[in-house]
Amino acid sequence: MATDTVNIKITKVEKSKIDQVDFDNLPFGKFFSDHMFEMDYVDGKWQEPTIVPFGNLSLHPATSAIHYGQSIFEGMKAQKGADGQVLVFRPDMNAKRFNESAKRMSMQPVPEEIFLEGLKQLLDIDREWISDKEGLSLYIRPFMFATDDYVGIRPSEKYKFLIITSPVGAYYSEPVRVKIETKYTRAAEGGVGQAKTAGNYAASLYPAALAQKEGYRQLIWTDAKTHTYIEEAGTMNIIFVIDNKVITPAESTDTILKGITKRSVLEIAQDWGYEIEERKVTVEEVISAIKEGRLQDAFGAGTAATIAHISAIGYDGVDYELPAIETRELSNKIKDYITEYKTGKLEDKFNWLMKF
Ligand code: PLP
Ligand code: COI
Repeated sequence: MATDTVNIKITKVEKSKIDQVDFDNLPFGKFFSDHMFEMDYVDGKWQEPTIVPFGNLSLHPATSAIHYGQSIFEGMKAQKGADGQVLVFRPDMNAKRFNESAKRMSMQPVPEEIFLEGLKQLLDIDREWISDKEGLSLYIRPFMFATDDYVGIRPSEKYKFLIITSPVGAYYSEPVRVKIETKYTRAAEGGVGQAKTAGNYAASLYPAALAQKEGYRQLIWTDAKTHTYIEEAGTMNIIFVIDNKVITPAESTDTILKGITKRSVLEIAQDWGYEIEERKVTVEEVISAIKEGRLQDAFGAGTAATIAHISAIGYDGVDYELPAIETRELSNKIKDYITEYKTGKLEDKFNWLMKF
């Protein structure tokens, strides 16, 4: 279906609240733009898509998502190019992943053309909220949850799909110290680790808080059965450079989120001539490589996190300090490249930007 066949009913705010936001002092995810996209699935079909003033929702206390967790989300970022164009990085991949999450959670898919056109029109109306200041972007959060007012357990018959946006600065403002988690589990094979569903994040909070007490910013999860294979961090995928090879855990198990930033990093690194290995990665090989001075780089990749250098890895009671950040060839180069790519400063050679 062509996108111009999507009719969206638009109600605009009477007065923008943009002057209440200090764009020179932006935390992550605390301020929201003037409008939001909203659409309900009722009576077996998606109802009229709407863009309305950003505001609270009114929910029945038995709303099933609150009780049983049928709730999924996505994360994207919009930037402003030098010519004032709005740029969004690979939103088609987010639309697809959203529906893969929906399938795993027994929820209704959102037609991709509505997801993308709704996003485009929402950003167009709130384009002033996309700052062209360095380091800032408009974080985009599409999400869907079950809205049956019913306490029995079954897939909901009603859903609400929304897109909200939030002007943001950096998620991690400095390199992160991470701990390899070998007791708690984020995802098990056959479970929902590959879905971007709310419960995965809720389940990670307690072990992450324990690690934070020990001075770590994030966990690196390991496989549920043996805790010997590296999986991912709570907000980003993990990439290592060992012996000049770019190594990252394969997505072939259903426990790791198929990260769009990671996929892009691998595609760019391959284009630059790096050797890439997507395979099982053992904790043991990473620790040996650190000890033997063969680990050259380690970083996280994610939409919110962008490229986050890992400064130290804690494992089994020992903290391993990693090479100095300025020696990290791939992560430094790719961080700049992706940042420039997303802000339209480079040629869109991979055809990744939605522009308008
Ligand atoms: N892994 C998890 C658990 C995440 O929440 C995210 C963030 O979305 C990622 C990885 C990175 O994925 P992406 O690059 O698509 O944002
Ligand atoms: C994102 O990077 O978009 C995410 O969804 C991670 C989130 C936990 C902030």
